[in-house]
Amino acid sequence: MEQELHRLKQEAEEALRQVGDAAQLEAFRVKYLGRKGGLLSGLMRQLGTVAPQDRPRLGQLANDAKQAVEDLFEEKKMLLTASIVGSATGAIDYSLPGRYLPYGKLHPVTQVMEEICSIFEGLGFAVAEGPDVETDYYNFEALNIPKHHPARDMHDTFYVTESILLRTHTSPMQARIMEKQEPPLRYIAPGKVYRCDSDITHTPMFHQVEGFLVDKEVSFADLKGVLTSFTHKMFERELALRFRPSFFPFTEPSAEVDIACVICGGKGCRVCKRTGWLEILGSGLIDPEVLKMVGYNPDIYSGFAFGLGVERIAMLKYGIDDIRLYYENDLRFLSQF
Ligand code: FA5
Repeated sequence: MEQELHRLKQEAEEALRQVGDAAQLEAFRVKYLGRKGGLLSGLMRQLGTVAPQDRPRLGQLANDAKQAVEDLFEEKKMLLTASIVGSATGAIDYSLPGRYLPYGKLHPVTQVMEEICSIFEGLGFAVAEGPDVETDYYNFEALNIPKHHPARDMHDTFYVTESILLRTHTSPMQARIMEKQEPPLRYIAPGKVYRCDSDITHTPMFHQVEGFLVDKEVSFADLKGVLTSFTHKMFERELALRFRPSFFPFTEPSAEVDIACVICGGKGCRVCKRTGWLEILGSGLIDPEVLKMVGYNPDIYSGFAFGLGVERIAMLKYGIDDIRLYYENDLRFLSQF
């Protein structure tokens, strides 16, 4: 019986190797493992006929042989099922190595935006966010830019309807916050803004961080102090800043602020248009008209405001010479940050 067990186990293993589909596998199961007519089960039944003293040892051998064949049967069944699923969908090739899953990262512009916010939070500014789809009133009128004011031309606005638009700057947040709260106020408002504009330093969607402070006796020196301290923290060195007289209908006096071009070290390149300077923000003391429109008395309160271009800062920080690279979704570029 011992020999017969050994022979039957080898025969079953060989037969299982030849099995190529589900029908053959079922035939195998019936022939070798079937409860009634199965060859291995039949051999187990014969145990009753052997000498009682040999029965425990042979019983153990028979059980081991049956268990080994059953294990191989289950393994074959799994392989066959997997290859059926794979070939039916054509999607799985088990011989291929696993796929590498890259880690996601924050977009460089988001990283810079978060850094800007955290520097201003460190200077005591609170953060507020407003809508991208804005009314003409907050984007223009409340900022002293009435209908037909020539300053509207500077904004290349995307209109949704005559009175609804995609905000062209984050300055509407000045009016939105001031009309709800009393001074002293110290806020920044980060977010997306939209203008019909595109070249190496302009994109149709970009990010700004608005900042403003309203209190008694606020002067231009306070604005210069805050912006200088911000720039030194942002670029981790004492870069030259240039306050260039400018005009915004909602600030008086107004200044655009340039920083020494870090791409060419101030020598002149295509990014700074050979001037050695790159404009990063607009700023000024809040116009008394704007304060009046939100119900503040300009004889008591004054304030400063600024609007930073986040992509410009990111360009300078990382030495990028074309702003559009940020929005081409090329992972080779984005994964460097
Ligand atoms: C403004 O948008 C004013 N709201 C800023 C301001 C706020 C002035 C508060 C006074 C008080 P300006 O249009 O200059 O100003 O834009 C501000 C900054 O946004 C620019 O200095 C530049 O860094 C950036 N910027 C402007 N247009 C684009 C663009 N199309 N793509 C990328 N960055 C831009």
